Amino acid sequence: MSLIRLDKLIADVLRISRKQAIQQIKSGAVTVNGQIVYAPDQKCNRDTDHICHNDTPLYCQTHLYIMLYKPQNTVCTADATEGIPVVELLPAQWRRKGLFPVGRLDKDTTGLLLITDDGAFAHRVIAPGKHLKYYHAQLAEPLTEQGAALLRDGVALADGTILQSAQIDFLDHRHQLVQIGIKEGKYHQIKRMAAAVGNRVITLKRVQIGDLRLDPSLKPGQARLLTPAEQKVYN
Ligand code: URA
Repeated sequence: MSLIRLDKLIADVLRISRKQAIQQIKSGAVTVNGQIVYAPDQKCNRDTDHICHNDTPLYCQTHLYIMLYKPQNTVCTADATEGIPVVELLPAQWRRKGLFPVGRLDKDTTGLLLITDDGAFAHRVIAPGKHLKYYHAQLAEPLTEQGAALLRDGVALADGTILQSAQIDFLDHRHQLVQIGIKEGKYHQIKRMAAAVGNRVITLKRVQIGDLRLDPSLKPGQARLLTPAEQKVYN
């Protein structure tokens, strides 16, 4: 059980100084489980107590686990010169120090991106070979049966890297919209796989990681917290 002083918690979550947090608590702005608490040194459980500031619920959990529908022109780095950093899309109440995207998607790739401040969780998600990542790729040309067979067998990329076998499913009758499931996560992997079979990716969307699918109710740029059950999918 993670017990923590209320003033430290409020300072952390609201990103204010400890002195300001103490002032807020003493002014009666903070409730714990519905009761105003005036004592800055009161211990609380950040994972189970319901803590509000000026009646607004605070997200105090030790770690946050967020599903984002990554839109185009956003980047998984902090470099805002390249595009909008994905963490900047998150609602203000979830933003905190230490949040990072789990793995990387290219600037033009959309879809399921997990964001957390839990390094061990991220490690479990991206561990090579553990969880298949599924993408929907719109291709410039129909994917031939021969091309699909090469990808299923484990194609060699232009630089000689031999990939593990991929799952290939056709999603349209023209064979230009294809679901591709891969276990690895190499740089530009799907685009390079398409190039290796003489094709080109027009749009790319990640729809699933392991057993977790992109929530169909999310629109590009929207995010939600993972449920406790979803957090355990990668255990
Ligand atoms: N493969 C790619 O080519 N790009 C991505 O963003 C993810 C997988």
